[in-house]
Amino acid sequence: MSIRRVTIQVNNDTTKGEWCHFPFTYKGKVYKGCTDVDHNRPWCSTTKNYDQDGFWGNCATRTFEENKIEGLDWNELKAVLNPLFDWEAAVQATLRTAVSLKKAIKEGLVYALRYELCDDMLRIADLTDRDPRRTMLTTVPKNRKNMSRTFLFLIGSKVYTPNDGDNWLIAKLNVQVTDLGYSQIVEHLSKVHFLMEPFCVSLKRTLPGLHPLNQILKYHCREISLPNVFVPPSLFGQGTFLDLLFANGNAGSQRLVRDAHKFVTWEVTDLRGQIEKRGLADKRLVPYFPYRDDSEKIVKIIERMATSYVKLYYKSNKDVEEDSELQAFANEVSANGTGPTGGIGKIEGFPASIKSKEELVDILSRIISQLSVQHAAVNYELVDYVTYAPNLPTKLYNDTRVNEGEFSFLRLPNRLTSSFAARFSNGLASFRFDSLFDYGNELQDIEAVNIVNRHYQELMHIVQPHLQETNRKRKEYGDLTYPYMIPRWIPNGVQT
Ligand SMILES: [Fe+2]
Repeated sequence: MSIRRVTIQVNNDTTKGEWCHFPFTYKGKVYKGCTDVDHNRPWCSTTKNYDQDGFWGNCATRTFEENKIEGLDWNELKAVLNPLFDWEAAVQATLRTAVSLKKAIKEGLVYALRYELCDDMLRIADLTDRDPRRTMLTTVPKNRKNMSRTFLFLIGSKVYTPNDGDNWLIAKLNVQVTDLGYSQIVEHLSKVHFLMEPFCVSLKRTLPGLHPLNQILKYHCREISLPNVFVPPSLFGQGTFLDLLFANGNAGSQRLVRDAHKFVTWEVTDLRGQIEKRGLADKRLVPYFPYRDDSEKIVKIIERMATSYVKLYYKSNKDVEEDSELQAFANEVSANGTGPTGGIGKIEGFPASIKSKEELVDILSRIISQLSVQHAAVNYELVDYVTYAPNLPTKLYNDTRVNEGEFSFLRLPNRLTSSFAARFSNGLASFRFDSLFDYGNELQDIEAVNIVNRHYQELMHIVQPHLQETNRKRKEYGDLTYPYMIPRWIPNGVQT
């Protein structure tokens, strides 16, 4: 095990760079951290007493990888981080307090990025740049044969902070390089495309066309097999996209898919639970996290639609239990299914039988959310981030024309790699087939038509303007906007 890279996130200053004063008094009450009382986002007073002085600011908690931070076990980290670097002092300097590192972690002031699946990543030859002056940043340390230095902060490797000038920029780009390779293979391909296909295949095998679940899920499952059949051959294999584009190439990507398989379970469709597990649910500690906040608004509508829809067709839990077609669906998808076709979907953690209306609502909501909300989050940002190579390069280089520790555009991928990246990101992330819940009028049952249309209207006329306004404010405050949860841009399913 080793740690590839770490980023520290603190939340004690404002978006304008002023210091929050903790504790501070507002309307006679003492606050020890940022609060969203009387304001639409977390804020703090910049003096001891807001009531007297009236100085305040919006709280800032941003690092270059704010959407991708994970929970932290310091004991686990300590064993593999560079022991020569004084982590305690670095954290104290950043927090500007004498708080111990252990306490800072406990209080949620420090986060780390951890990509266990990238441990001991394979080293591959660079297929897109044969210029002898250039070497892809995958130098294998002497004592670790198959270790790629694309991944930062190996044991004993240098640690960079914002005080390190160009090296900090190079370190951040290096994080992006790794994150792109990881997120597309694990979070996108494995946890959405590959995970959800068995549900959609079993849907066709076990539920007749007029079954209530088939009536709506067929729109969310539309063409799901298409990318799984046609895309992998163009991604995987020697000389295909992944081999050309990513620092870990085809071999590394294939290994990621294989190793990710054991984590690709029904549990990953619990979007709220996943965020909590990563320690990111607390808005006070992590106030700017648009993926969490915007997706929650869409998921709530999906849950409400699923509740009304299930209620329409199932009057009691007994109705659910006695729906033999529904039970056959669960039995086939679940890894615990029994009988001739039981368990062939191999989905770990998915129940082999559905016992109540509540459970059915949860299942329906999670299938729809994973195919719409989660896919939109991991697919559509590609076109904004990857098309422009300096923003998110897929590889980085040492170049004899550039001094060590200096940043230059010569460290970025060449034109060939960059054009592959643009084609890859545009191909996957500029196509939208439909919009979430736009199929109401296609349904046969007028009551079902009303339910789906009502939630579609709510998405379009309530949630959408709200999120557009939220994005306008984000921009005004100097934050990045997050357009991926704007309802009309969320397709029902996965076509790319
Ligand atoms: Fe996709």
